[in-house]
Amino acid sequence: MLQNKPDWSKIGDREESNYYVDYLDTVTHQDEIRRYKQKTYRLLGLKAGDRVLDAGCGAGDDVIAMAEIVGPGGLACGLDYSAGIVAQAEARAAEHNLSTEFRQGDVQALPFDDDSFDAVRADRVFMHIEDRGKALAEMVRVARPGGRVLVREPDWDSLLIDSDDKAITRSIIHAHFDQVIRHGWAGRALYSQFRSMSLQNIAVGDCSTLMLTDFALVDKLYGLSDAAAKFGAQTPEMKAHADQWLADLKTRNEQGRFFSAITGFTVIGLKPERAE
Ligand SMILES: C[S@@+](CC[C@H](N)C(=O)[O-])C[C@H]1O[C@@H](n2cnc3c(N)ncnc32)[C@H](O)[C@@H]1O
Repeated sequence: MLQNKPDWSKIGDREESNYYVDYLDTVTHQDEIRRYKQKTYRLLGLKAGDRVLDAGCGAGDDVIAMAEIVGPGGLACGLDYSAGIVAQAEARAAEHNLSTEFRQGDVQALPFDDDSFDAVRADRVFMHIEDRGKALAEMVRVARPGGRVLVREPDWDSLLIDSDDKAITRSIIHAHFDQVIRHGWAGRALYSQFRSMSLQNIAVGDCSTLMLTDFALVDKLYGLSDAAAKFGAQTPEMKAHADQWLADLKTRNEQGRFFSAITGFTVIGLKPERAE
């Protein structure tokens, strides 16, 4: 679960990466996630013959999906910091006969020449990395003039959980995500970040909310039990509040009225053509 392995910037070997791939598969399985991912491919304007980079590609599903669009004359390249994740993505892509390539590397120092790709994307990666400015600059550098650059991020302060206790919900959730996510505001910061770069036609191309009503799934994805345990570890009084909070969520779930939601943002821009 997220709470036990919070550091997505340092995923180790193949064995450790199994946990992360399972987590990513659970996320990707959600309809809203599939919808926004499809929309990112459309916003990138991908067509047959294009070369596209997915920076922080995870299990490689987006690379495979984009390889289907760009066809045998194009290339969908996936890059990830974790060698274990890259190995899993490579194995997954090998089951398809598509034009794909995978590299281990850091989005903050991309191992590609300038102007190498028609389109570059990163999906739920910026919240984990140290220097988002460097990462975006690198994505722009490797895009060709006229190429598109796109980033999708959630905003963890937009995570809402319906509960009986507003104050405790805020305390538990905010403290937890401040601790386990390096840049919890990566989503809301994207527009400003793109505006500070030499990019054109910048737009928030998509904004959508993942709504979930299954406590066990939300607990797996967001680590609510762990958040409550950490909060409760501080004092006996806080433990009583945390236990009550968790019990309320579980009762709501049993009664079919558990509700959570989180919003994500997709921002896109165009690398300017070079002046003659
Ligand atoms: C939450 S996952 C998202 C994966 C994928 N983009 C998706 O949408 O399913 C974050 C990914 O970013 C990778 N990552 C973290 N820091 C990175 C960095 N500095 N450079 C490249 N990849 C990185 C992690 O290894 C992980 O696979």
